[in-house]
Formats: sequence, structure tokens, C-alpha cells
Amino acid sequence: MEDFSTYYLCMSANTPSDAASKPFGTVFGDVMALAEFDGSAWSEPRMVGTSELVLHPGTHALHYGSSCFEGLKAHRQPDGSVATFRAHRHAERMFGSAERLMLPPPPVALFERMVADTVAANADITPDAPGSLYLRPTIIGTEQNIGAAARASNTAMFYVLASPVGQYFAGGSLRLAVETKLPRTTPQFGMVKTGANYAMALSVLAEAKDRYNADQVLFAPDGYVEETGAANFLVLADNTIITPPLSDGYLHGVTRDTILTLAESLGFSVEERPLSVSELLALAAEPTTEIVLSGTAAIVAPVGTLISEGAEHRVGGTDTGTQTQKIRDLVTQMQQGIAERPTGW
Ligand code: PLP
Ligand code: COI
Repeated sequence: MEDFSTYYLCMSANTPSDAASKPFGTVFGDVMALAEFDGSAWSEPRMVGTSELVLHPGTHALHYGSSCFEGLKAHRQPDGSVATFRAHRHAERMFGSAERLMLPPPPVALFERMVADTVAANADITPDAPGSLYLRPTIIGTEQNIGAAARASNTAMFYVLASPVGQYFAGGSLRLAVETKLPRTTPQFGMVKTGANYAMALSVLAEAKDRYNADQVLFAPDGYVEETGAANFLVLADNTIITPPLSDGYLHGVTRDTILTLAESLGFSVEERPLSVSELLALAAEPTTEIVLSGTAAIVAPVGTLISEGAEHRVGGTDTGTQTQKIRDLVTQMQQGIAERPTGW
């Protein structure tokens, strides 16, 4: 491991409570785990200072988008330790993202080890709840070759960036613009966590913000709901959770899976089925309906308004309704080690 004692000296400005009050993702831990793929194998991971990466201007990822990432959190536990939530599942998803982008998939054990090393090195700057340590495992294709447009990068770098965070959404209920014409990304890449998917959604989001003061866009290509730009979408219709079935077209959220796994114990039944925008608007009009976004950053965030074809539709049980609160409480209590979590989480 490199000597990073000097990095600790810089940390006084980054106290955990400072970090939690800054915009999400703008404060970084001073050390991170890093490994390199040399064309045949991953190196042993090492801890390095979080500083500028030196990349050649011809780096494959900068030209041909050979990069993918994960987002997971570690939370302070009642005994003061810091524990990740469902790291294994995130490791599996990153393996799949890398495979689909023809990047060398990092073995699950390597991912878990690098996440654990990064958490241990940044435990001191992990804010107390509701704050946490957000982890951003990232792989980039590093081959220096601008001619390699039609093939994968031979080499890659994998690092786990850490960011002490507070809340992603400031609170209150969200305004979503429903987009039925433009997809978020392409049908075969929606399930991949890669930057290009986010870039493709940017102009749609910017327009929805400008025109409707929307917080997010709900993508519903051909009139069927998929997800928003940074979270999955679930309708709580009385005691039933309705959410679209998994497909390659959208991200298979770990938080979505957590909620669906816990649903029965919370008294919900689950319907994973196609949901049209017209059915959604009818459900939203019911006084007891609640709608939530789910995601690592978002956790479980209430949706208050849907804007469809320029018309505003208030969601029945707006603000954080009782059903939303029930789900959010159990998820956050498991993350914080207050409620028992299933084995392997
Ligand atoms: N969909 C998109 C596009 C996302 O960026 C995220 C966030 O990671 C999610 C869904 C939710 O996924 P998860 O719950 O695994 O964070
Ligand atoms: C996450 O929730 O981990 C995401 O990747 C969303 C991102 C916009 C912060």
C-alpha cells in the first residue's frame, strides 16, 4: 500500500458533517482502491490517493465510451463500524455491465475486496445517518489507440471512489415529466450502468426542467413506463406494488430488488407487469395511491406530480405518505444495522 499519510492531513476540512451538507457527490475521500488490467489479468489492488488520473488524450474510454460504473453505499452501524449494503449484488451487476461493454469484468471477489478496502480507509469520514459513504466503483478502457473504434480496449483501470454524502433529494415530493416519445437509451443497453446512457438523457431532462420545472423525467417509450434518469419507478396502489418487469431496456436496481424482496413482510403484494401511462394516470388519481422512485442515491423518494402532455396530475397520497414511509424506514433501518437484514445483504 502506498504511503498516504499526507492525504489524511488534508482531511480536517472534510469532516463528516461538513460533507453531508454539501451537494451530493462533490466531496471525496482522500484514498481509493485501484487495480489495472494489463491485457491478460487484473493486478493486485492497491490504495492510492484520490487525485487527478493521468490519462493519455488517446485513451479508449475518452473516445469510444468504454467505461461503466456502480453506485452503492456504506453506512455507520450502531457499534460505530461502517458496513456496505448489498455489495455482492452491485458486484454482479458491474460484472454484467463490463461484459456487455467488452471491458474485462472484475471478479466479484476483487470488487468486494476493493470496496471493503476503500470503506475501511474512509471510515473516519463516513457521516452518521441520514448521511453515508457513497462508493463509485468505475472501470475505464485505458488503451491508447484512437484507431480502435471497432474493437475493445486491451487494457483497463478499475478504481473505487468514495464520497461522503447527505441526501440526494432535498426532501418534499418530486415532479416528474412523462416522456413517451424518446427513450432514455437504447433497448439493449438500458440495463448497463454506463455514462453514455446518462449523457443520452441529458437534453430531455434539461428541456423538462425548463418547460415544467420537473425534477426528473419518467421515460415511458411507446407509452409504457420504464424508469427515470437516475432511479426506478414503483406505484404503491393500496397494498400492491406495481412496477414494470425487468428487461434489458432499463437498469435492474438493487433498491428496487430490496423493496420487492421485503414487500411481503411489509404487507404488500407485488405486480411486476407492463404499466401504461394511461393506467398510471388513472392510478395516480386515486386518493390512496403513492408513487416512489427507488435508487441507491434516491433511497425511496416520493413523487407528488406527474406532468403528461403538458398537463399536471397530482398523485393521490402526496408528500411522504404512510406506505412510502413504511418502506423507506425498513430499508434505511437495515442499511444502518438497526433492523436485521437477510443473509448476504
Ligand atoms: N435507474 C438508473 C438509471 C439509475 O441510475 C439508478 C441508480 O443507480 C437506478 C435505476 C437505481 O438502481 P440502484 O437501486 O441499484 O441504485
Ligand atoms: C445511484 O443511485 O447510485 C446513481 O447512480 C444515481 C446517480 C445519479 C447518483
